[in-house]
Amino acid sequence: MNKIFEELLFSHEEIVARCKELGQQITKDYEGKMPLVVGMLKGSIPFMAELIKHIGCDMETEYMQCSSYEGTESTHNVVVKKDLSASIEGRHVLVVEDIVDTGLTLKLVMGLLRDRKPASLEIVSLLNKQARRIVDGLEVKYLGFEVENKFVVGFGLDYDGLYRNIDEIGVLKKEIYMK
Ligand code: IMP
Repeated sequence: MNKIFEELLFSHEEIVARCKELGQQITKDYEGKMPLVVGMLKGSIPFMAELIKHIGCDMETEYMQCSSYEGTESTHNVVVKKDLSASIEGRHVLVVEDIVDTGLTLKLVMGLLRDRKPASLEIVSLLNKQARRIVDGLEVKYLGFEVENKFVVGFGLDYDGLYRNIDEIGVLKKEIYMK
């Protein structure tokens, strides 16, 4: 186990196996629909890279960057830092997130994308912290794993920009963010 973890939650093998299952489900659901898979920068990158390897139908990718989080507590501001580079009208859009926490970020993103009239709009998230949700009506159609209300890092999830490169997911040691 990596020394920054207090507890290991998901090994690399478990994450890859789950990505394979999700990819197979997505392939079935989107066959013939040429989905546009939208990765939310920066946290979704490792998950997106693994997931799309297991999507067997034709698909395209886009990226978007929004920010609503500082340190270990959610703030209530969401800013679009990088927008999509193409129209999504009439497209089947699948938004890829690392973790849905309060849901504030995705609620804004989904509203914004829905206004652009996609044929369909769904979410795939590696992790979900249901206990922290403060918005209603946000359905995560495809979910990797449910996690408890603990601060987790690895496989794209960071603490102040660090630890995205760790290939497994665990609970960050408190002494790291409390010093
Ligand atoms: P939300 O708007 O509160 O749902 O925040 C979502 C974003 O907060 C995610 O995309 C992450 O960047 C960040 N986040 C939430 N929980 C964690 C965590 O446990 N570790 C690392 N980042 C987190």
